[in-house]
Amino acid sequence: AVNLKGRSFLTLMDFTPEEIRYMLDLSHDLKAKKRAGIQGDALKGKNIVLLFEKTSTRTRCAFEVACLDEGGHVTFLDSNSSQFGKKESVEDSAKVFGRFFDGIEYRGYDQALVEDLAKYAGIPVWNGLTDVDHPTQILADLLTIEEHVAKPLNKVKVVFCGDVRNNMSYAWMYGCAKMGMHYVAYGPQVLLDEIDKDILARVHEVAAATGAKIELCSTPECLKGADVLYTDVWASMGEEAQIPEKVKMLTPYKVTEEMIKETGNEDVIFLHCLPSFHDFETKMAKTQKDAGYDIREVTDEVFRSKYSKVFDEAENRMHTIKAVMVATIGRQN
Ligand code: CP
Ligand code: NVA
Repeated sequence: AVNLKGRSFLTLMDFTPEEIRYMLDLSHDLKAKKRAGIQGDALKGKNIVLLFEKTSTRTRCAFEVACLDEGGHVTFLDSNSSQFGKKESVEDSAKVFGRFFDGIEYRGYDQALVEDLAKYAGIPVWNGLTDVDHPTQILADLLTIEEHVAKPLNKVKVVFCGDVRNNMSYAWMYGCAKMGMHYVAYGPQVLLDEIDKDILARVHEVAAATGAKIELCSTPECLKGADVLYTDVWASMGEEAQIPEKVKMLTPYKVTEEMIKETGNEDVIFLHCLPSFHDFETKMAKTQKDAGYDIREVTDEVFRSKYSKVFDEAENRMHTIKAVMVATIGRQN
């Protein structure tokens, strides 16, 4: 039987397909429980701390609501409100957090930092996004696929369009490799060439064992037969200076109605981790537009279409993050 008690959640690469299956099953159960209005107590008496060096809506709220739903208590620290990362080393901070809390969520830049936290804290650490991974997002995406695509995961083809060397694309490679899925990174050759070779080698090794297929492609024939079209912003947090070159490179990979048609699959779904610039309703998109850059990574038409399951996906962040916490520090399961 799967037992994840005491484990950190730093990347899906640390988990077996059975362990990921367990977290997804638990997510489905916890979602049904919440829908039934049942208050849980799996985290009763547990204290968690959320460390955010980058901004967040979904991830922070998911951890807070999920923890409270199961009777736990949350402390939130952003990058300006503690000594962490400035006046105190990661090692010392981690040791202190380990004395106060039962679990730590970390969102920031460096994957090595979240690993160091786990090394020194002595309690489970959950990765809430780094420059090279976003594992809790993938759990939510897999849950959403199971709800909306009438196929087992190992028959599902995901085409990730756009910034194929960002944290979401890497996280998808890990998730698809582990679950035996078909993943296509669809973007310009210059960005495909930037995909980390060591990561790719590790992903291919896992894929060989699970039957997954991991492909890189710069031309639209790879859209054929897709079950999921996925995209993300073209410039991730901390990469805003790259917007001009990214817009130039990635405009041909903007998700459009034509791309939906090119899948040849009437049941295809569109997913996006969010936040999205699908319209010009944000300050950032407007500012960039005034400077001559259209940063919309998906058309408003697709974003609001029947294919789009992005708000189910956003909700699923909460159910899956709850599952990660209950599995690793919960009182039962
Ligand atoms: N998808 C996601 O991680 O959203 P936030 O940045 O709002 O947490
Ligand atoms: N790639 C995006 C994901 C946001 C959830 C970023 O890192 O900004």
